[in-house]
Amino acid sequence: MTVLGIMGGSGVYDIAGLKDAKWQRIASPFGETSDEFLFGVLDGLDVVFVPRHGRGHRHSPTSINYRANIDALKRIGVTDILSLSACGSLREDLPPGYFVVVDQFIDRTFARDKSFFGEGFVAHVSMAHPTCNRLAHAVHDCARQAGFPIKFGGTYLAMEGPQFSSLAESRLYRSWGCDVIGMTNMPEAKLAREAEICYVTVAMVTDFDCWHPDHDHVQVADIVRVLLDNAEKAKTLVTMVAPLLKESRPTPCPHGCDRALEHALITAPA
Ligand code: ADE
Repeated sequence: MTVLGIMGGSGVYDIAGLKDAKWQRIASPFGETSDEFLFGVLDGLDVVFVPRHGRGHRHSPTSINYRANIDALKRIGVTDILSLSACGSLREDLPPGYFVVVDQFIDRTFARDKSFFGEGFVAHVSMAHPTCNRLAHAVHDCARQAGFPIKFGGTYLAMEGPQFSSLAESRLYRSWGCDVIGMTNMPEAKLAREAEICYVTVAMVTDFDCWHPDHDHVQVADIVRVLLDNAEKAKTLVTMVAPLLKESRPTPCPHGCDRALEHALITAPA
């Protein structure tokens, strides 16, 4: 059975139109989740919404407890995660308002807990293909149908923040072939893989980052202007994708997301 988790980034703090909607706290041994989770039913599909920064945007990208969020989603039976995330653009042809279905990440974050494994119990999951192709196609098809500008596939540079990049950094990431830049999708995608949950990111462009000759500063006020429009489109996308996912989830996942630990544990049994 599919249970869809939706991670809402900046500008997406709730999901309207859920049947039987109720906010509820979920306990995790990894600590406090970002906020209560919003449970509900969308077109017959069980949905759980997580405001990643908390309602009112209280957690910075570094202080989000990614492990608690993913662990709690796993405990309540979430099978698929749709991550809706604001981002900067590193390409001229991805202007603000554009969406990118991310399929690769470069992780430059350094001040976050990145694994459920560690001392005494070691595992190395594959991150060669960090997103689920089935979810990627589903959201891409819906966005196309709705007429939203969207690119299928793209590399997301995850930076620590909270400050935006310097010009040299922004140029470096462009030279690496990155498409978009954000502060939150790592380690989230890594932890979803360790938890054997299918994961996909829809990165929603709010700004051109600072490399662009006509936009030499990123400013929150500019981001917020685009954010609200993007958030409305994201909510439409969720409404459209729910019935597709309800009908289409094969078990096991054809991409192996739900079996990521099968060949990943290296610690000998005690
Ligand atoms: N989120 C939105 N815009 C961003 C940018 N330019 N850099 C990092 N994170 C962002």
